[in-house]
Amino acid sequence: MNSGRASTSKLALLASVPRVIAYLPRLGVNIDHIATLRQLRGTPYPSLLEAARIVEKAGGAQITVHLREDRRHIQDEDVRQLRKELRIPLNLEMAATEAMTKFALKIKPEWDCIVPEKRAEVTTEGGLALEKNARRIGKTVERLKKGGIKVSLFVEPSVKAMKLSAKLGADAVELHTGRYCLAAQSPKASTGAGKKKTAAEFDRIREAGLLARDLGLHVHAGHGFDYANVRPVAELVDDEKRPLIEEYNIGHAIVCRAAIVGLDRAVKEMVSAILAP
Ligand code: PXP
Repeated sequence: MNSGRASTSKLALLASVPRVIAYLPRLGVNIDHIATLRQLRGTPYPSLLEAARIVEKAGGAQITVHLREDRRHIQDEDVRQLRKELRIPLNLEMAATEAMTKFALKIKPEWDCIVPEKRAEVTTEGGLALEKNARRIGKTVERLKKGGIKVSLFVEPSVKAMKLSAKLGADAVELHTGRYCLAAQSPKASTGAGKKKTAAEFDRIREAGLLARDLGLHVHAGHGFDYANVRPVAELVDDEKRPLIEEYNIGHAIVCRAAIVGLDRAVKEMVSAILAP
């Protein structure tokens, strides 16, 4: 008798699993800086594919790469190879140009994240200027979606950007979290004006995320996250108590952490390579 009850409740639990899983946020790992290390010397290593496979095994739900116009890290061939070999989805970040759109339509990643690009910047410094570039971005969204690619727009967490993103037909917004992350990383983050600034930037993320959801958009977030400042954002929930941010795209902090936690093994392997008969 008891076992009947137990198996019924097990079934009930199993039935609820896909729903629970569907609400768990995903981590997209941005591997641009693995390519940065390779491009620095023009060496055949580190292998992006090997990195992507490690990400996949470690629980990363997606690989994110930014094919910049200046090709400073990721190369066209990297994207082609990742597309061919990856089992997890590929998220291609790119500027809304004709050449990039054609490339994306050939590659057909699961997601395309349209980002602003300035040649001299160290990294993507702000969200898209949607109003100024509405026609071009709207057309790009339409073409990518027609090609079967889901599209997110990398935008500042503002009311205006959420409304325009919905109007331009995006599937998702990726909230640019750079301002919040910088404020939270500042040595002044825990007192006075620094604390106020961090709280204000955090509120912008929450409010924009909630509005995006109301507008029917998926909510992604990225830029500047580290292992500490991601926590408060990961605790944000929507009206139904589901995680507000559905997807994180994080790169620099993970690659930096890998250099530290992987150093021990890397040194031991080199010692062996020198000492091996
Ligand atoms: N999302 C987008 C759209 C980006 O441009 C970047 C930076 O390349 C990231 C996420 C990842 O940012 P970070 O390397 O600071 O984690």
